Amino acid sequence: MKIAIGCDHGGIHLKKVLQEHLAARNVEYTDVGTYTDDSCDYPDFAVKVCDEVVSGRADRGILVCGTGIGMSMAANKVDGIRAALCGDVFSAKMSREHNDANVLCLGERVTGPGLAEMMLDVWLDTEFAGGRHERRVHKIMAIEK
Ligand code: RB5
Repeated sequence: MKIAIGCDHGGIHLKKVLQEHLAARNVEYTDVGTYTDDSCDYPDFAVKVCDEVVSGRADRGILVCGTGIGMSMAANKVDGIRAALCGDVFSAKMSREHNDANVLCLGERVTGPGLAEMMLDVWLDTEFAGGRHERRVHKIMAIEK
């Protein structure tokens, strides 16, 4: 599996933790930035990660900002993206099993590194359940923007 990962200045430290965790798991990833602490605009990086996913260059994406809220709002504007803002392991699991989330959003100012790593593990390892959930996900994707 290939991951695209991005953040703004509010998520750069947690992004680093998650990159190290991906590397330790031998998961290939592309880091689309931001690369410094300089203030920047989270939608720019949400779009970069989502482009990687929609184009098929990445299988899934991870976005980190201060709260994860702005990233999730921006990512869900992109056609083909189902971004889930998660703050607990159960939600991270369900976002895959029931919602087939292809982007995980996290907030560095909300979620500590240990919890974020656990959420990432379960999010990477959980498959979409399909069945009745597939019908519902299709209905999400059919909603006119
Ligand atoms: C940046 O200060 C902050 O607004 C951003 O990281 C994010 O939390 C927005 O949702």
